[in-house]
Amino acid sequence: MAEQAASGAMLAMRGVSKTFSGVKALDDVSFEVRTGEVHCLAGENGSGKSTLIKIATGVYAADPGAEIRIAGRKVSHPTPGLARRLGIEVIWQDHALFPEMSVAENIAFESLLGARPRLVAKRRLRATAERALARLGVTLDLDASLRSLPIAKRQVVAIARALIGEARLIFMDEPTASLTRTETDLLLAIVRKLAADGVAVVFVSHRLAEVLEISSAVTVLRDGRLVGVFPTAGMTQSRLTELMTGQIFDSQVSARDRSAGPPVLELRGLTRSGEYRDIDLEIRAGEIVGITGLIGAGRTELGQTLFGMTRAERGEIRLDGAPVSFRSNEEAIRRGVAYVSEDRLSLGLIQPQSIADNLALTVLDRLLVGGLISPGRKASLVGNWVRELAVKIGKPQDAVSTLSGGNQQRIVLAKWLATEPRLLILDAPTVGVDVGARAGLFAIIRKLAEGGIAILLISDEAPEVYFNADRVLHMAAGRIVGEYDPRKTCLATLERAIYA
Ligand SMILES: Nc1ncnc2c1ncn2[C@@H]1O[C@H](COP(=O)(O)OP(=O)(O)OP(=O)(O)O)[C@@H](O)[C@H]1O
Ligand SMILES: [Mg+2]
Repeated sequence: MAEQAASGAMLAMRGVSKTFSGVKALDDVSFEVRTGEVHCLAGENGSGKSTLIKIATGVYAADPGAEIRIAGRKVSHPTPGLARRLGIEVIWQDHALFPEMSVAENIAFESLLGARPRLVAKRRLRATAERALARLGVTLDLDASLRSLPIAKRQVVAIARALIGEARLIFMDEPTASLTRTETDLLLAIVRKLAADGVAVVFVSHRLAEVLEISSAVTVLRDGRLVGVFPTAGMTQSRLTELMTGQIFDSQVSARDRSAGPPVLELRGLTRSGEYRDIDLEIRAGEIVGITGLIGAGRTELGQTLFGMTRAERGEIRLDGAPVSFRSNEEAIRRGVAYVSEDRLSLGLIQPQSIADNLALTVLDRLLVGGLISPGRKASLVGNWVRELAVKIGKPQDAVSTLSGGNQQRIVLAKWLATEPRLLILDAPTVGVDVGARAGLFAIIRKLAEGGIAILLISDEAPEVYFNADRVLHMAAGRIVGEYDPRKTCLATLERAIYA
């Protein structure tokens, strides 16, 4: 304890390495978090951020030789239980919560295990949960089942639960990846409050603006090695990107005039009540049309109808000039529509299955030779896409779950691109994808467009559509309310329109 007082370090890790079947995920990394500090962990996909968190919290054991101190105490082998007793909590991206239980039960039941009689326990449970939420400055219906809450609220529940355990250090691994802007603001406010209360927070995010806004220091990893620890004061996004990747990226408007191509997708007066209304839209061959706007604007809902997951009540959809009305997504896929969903974890991939099987799923018929899947064709399909999208994998037979988050997202993309679609709908395609890979991804998307497919790019990150689309549509409350040509508008104008 004396040592902690001297250094203020809540967690100090030195010489941490981790090898997975021959691959070095971490190589001699040091990491330190001080009491009450918000510290970001930054690095490209697969650079080792989540692995470092898993070692600090006892999920994985480090290779021999590591030294780990928690609150000044030397811990040779952290286990999840020990880490928790020493005040370390993790908010995982996939939330270890109980969907069928209520908000109050999720927050407080562990702390009251063994308490009786039942009735008293129940009252105490509610009171405990209420206190934890109050500390976060949030009110939630204590009796609502967790299943009924949006992801952002579930995260609040997970944080409240961590506080019951007297957390002194909370790891948040990409907590904002599936949050809207307003929800993100709420989460960042909570993080600031925790820090002011003396709780240390380690925050991981690929949205660099957020990293610079919330943290006072950032530890940068590259390929499993420590690049350095930097104060965020005075740091810029481009400098941080350079530290993470070793390269400089500058964003440039890539819009081109595509009005001469034949229309691939035409929408006239498309309406589905409560979701979107009177949508007129045309995407020509080779064109990338961006749709942005706040969540609830109906963007994703429109994408879902185009992919046959829901049906419009009024209006017309034409694909390559012919009217279509899809009753299912199989039908949409057959007609050449591909959809990369924003929810990669639940809709995009079958986690326990191999990388190769996930990738081949959408194009099985093309891999058949004499009624059987040809291993050679499958291997070359997988090889091509892994190279094309620079996916960092071990072996194609490894389970998708062994890939880092951003590399999983690349597999989702590859899976749909392999179908050689006419119309490609990308819904928040870069959530959880690092800056370098984003640039690579959009270079590929532009190349696809050059080949003549039509692309609908849906995103709530205005810069993403601004720099990568040929035209940008602004959607609000289910309608298209504005159209912008990135070559004639500045980003600030677009952002003002959206966030006004
Ligand atoms: N259980 C595992 N088995 C094999 N390899 C693994 C396992 N977990 C992680 N890896 C590998 O270790 C490396 C680091 O992965 P990690 O998940 O720590 O990256 P990350 O920095 O969190 O990336 P992202 O930003 O994409 O989430 C990757 O190459 C990954 O494939
Ligand atoms: Mg990760």
